[in-house]
Amino acid sequence: MVKDQNKPIKIIGVFTSGGDGPGMNACIRAVVRTAIYHNVQVTGIMRGYEGMIDNEFIPMDARSVSNIIHRGGTILKTARCPRFFEYEGRKKAYENLMSNNIDGVVAIGGDGTFTGAEIFFEEFGVPMIGTPGTIDNDLFGTDYTIGYDTAVNTAIEAIDKIRDTAAAHDRLFFVEVMGRDSGCIALAAGIGGGAEYILLPERDTTLDQLIEVLERGAKNKKTSSIVVVAEGEHGGGAYKIAEKVKEKFKHYDTKVTVLGHVQRGGSPTCFDRAGKSPWCCCGRGFAWWRVA
Ligand code: F6P
Repeated sequence: MVKDQNKPIKIIGVFTSGGDGPGMNACIRAVVRTAIYHNVQVTGIMRGYEGMIDNEFIPMDARSVSNIIHRGGTILKTARCPRFFEYEGRKKAYENLMSNNIDGVVAIGGDGTFTGAEIFFEEFGVPMIGTPGTIDNDLFGTDYTIGYDTAVNTAIEAIDKIRDTAAAHDRLFFVEVMGRDSGCIALAAGIGGGAEYILLPERDTTLDQLIEVLERGAKNKKTSSIVVVAEGEHGGGAYKIAEKVKEKFKHYDTKVTVLGHVQRGGSPTCFDRAGKSPWCCCGRGFAWWRVA
């Protein structure tokens, strides 16, 4: 049971899957309007692979993606789908795609979404396009994923605010950011937010190393400090690390802030809507847009 590869593509499906990220709506809009421009119809698949298995399909037109370019979340909703790990789930999804005359699918999501898409293509031959969408920025083959830039800017905004109160009270703050096994958000937000230290999953730091840096700062008359902690770092999370540091380093009052899902929401930055483009070659009098 494999899709006929010679059949021309007339209808495509589009879905978002896994953790949402700001900019997914802009991406859905770009897919729908580009497809329509090329005379290809679009069907929205609700809640990622879940909706594919449960036959939740909706017709989409240019107007169904009006006024979403600036909105976080995803109008198609999203889900993590354990049923798609099983062959029976994927078979049901294939049957539903075929009965809805869908010739190819655009998947917007992260590594779990892409792994599912690859297996699905190998088993059933349905053409799949993967569009990188995750705040974690942890996908191979691309420098940026949709949602990452907004998440980093959300984290920086929070760190800036925490810095104010940290300075006012002479405190040491541990700020935990998302990213699963990736330290991308922590690294960018830590550097951009001027953190004293950044704890990453990609690099093991001993407690002594961290304390040495904090002590050096204190000796240099630093009255407050910020340590950014990636959620996937191996020391047990911001609360545990803060506790251990507190036992050995009593210089500051210590506090913890876990930013959590606030990093997943909000209005996407221009970068998460339009990517590296549009860029303007004004001298030559023309401009390019990546999305139609
Ligand atoms: O993959 C995006 C992400 O936000 C990770 O940074 C985080 O570890 C995870 O999703 C949280 O997932 P959930 O919202 O399902 O708890």
